[in-house]
Amino acid sequence: MENLTIENISCEAEGTPILKDCSLEINKGDCVALLGPNGHGKSTLLNILMGNPRYKVTSGKATLDGEDLLSMEVDERSKKGLFMAFQNPPDVPGVVTMDFFRGMINARLEKPVSLLKFYKETTAAYEKVDLDSEMASRHLNEGYSGGEKKRNEILQMLLVKPKLALLDEIDSGLDVDALKIIADVINEMKENGTTFIIVSHYDRLYDLVNVNKTAIIVNGKVALEGDASLAKRISKEGYSFLEKEYDIKIEKNEKKANDVSIGSCAVKQVIAK
Ligand SMILES: Nc1ncnc2c1ncn2[C@@H]1O[C@H](COP(=O)(O)OP(=O)(O)OP(=O)(O)O)[C@@H](O)[C@H]1O
Ligand SMILES: [Mg+2]
Repeated sequence: MENLTIENISCEAEGTPILKDCSLEINKGDCVALLGPNGHGKSTLLNILMGNPRYKVTSGKATLDGEDLLSMEVDERSKKGLFMAFQNPPDVPGVVTMDFFRGMINARLEKPVSLLKFYKETTAAYEKVDLDSEMASRHLNEGYSGGEKKRNEILQMLLVKPKLALLDEIDSGLDVDALKIIADVINEMKENGTTFIIVSHYDRLYDLVNVNKTAIIVNGKVALEGDASLAKRISKEGYSFLEKEYDIKIEKNEKKANDVSIGSCAVKQVIAK
């Protein structure tokens, strides 16, 4: 991947508009901190790039090395080198982790991976993320602790070796040692040419991986971009300076209260009795 251009993307999910004219440019070798207040569209943007069908793009475009990304199927995007680590990795009961990993690797190969190579690669990856490789025989994510799920996402990233990795709050729920382990994996992959977009609410991970760009999503669009110092500032001061210094008003997510709430109905009934 040389370049990903996101141009004026607007989208909705189940009729709710989320992204509004969102634009961002990513170049090979970037390590981007993607921040923004809760519910303003960070995960949505990553899902749109990966092709989650729950989100409907209503306008705008995204091009990967000049090709229309949004018209590609999810597996095609994955084969082009995109990978997403989920904020909340789903449990997949009935699917044995090892089978899932093998399918994931084989989908990218012409001939299926040999058992020996598969064993060596997965064992090394389990060691890197400091998880017990016995977990490979369990159902994917089922019963995993929060931190184990996050380590398991990074493990998958190690196995597929993406060109562009989208990491959605990969650091939430991780203990201090795990954070360091994951930062080491990211740094190693950065050296091997992987580009990263990393969503986090904290600067600990950003410090460990030396981000070179910051993008802030507010009200469904990238409202401000800067270098690593911008992520640092947000971590220290929060988002209020955006309004004071940049005139960016942060819309609240709460929907207007309905005229009649369940509570008021109940009160009316009590009064009627
Ligand atoms: N499938 C959906 N149906 C309806 N609304 C949705 C759906 N998915 C997301 N939203 C809404 O879109 C908004 C943006 O959500 P998103 O998950 O992108 O936020 P975020 O910036 O990642 O927040 P956080 O920091 O809390 O993870 C939220 O208000 C969310 O409730
Ligand atoms: Mg999110």
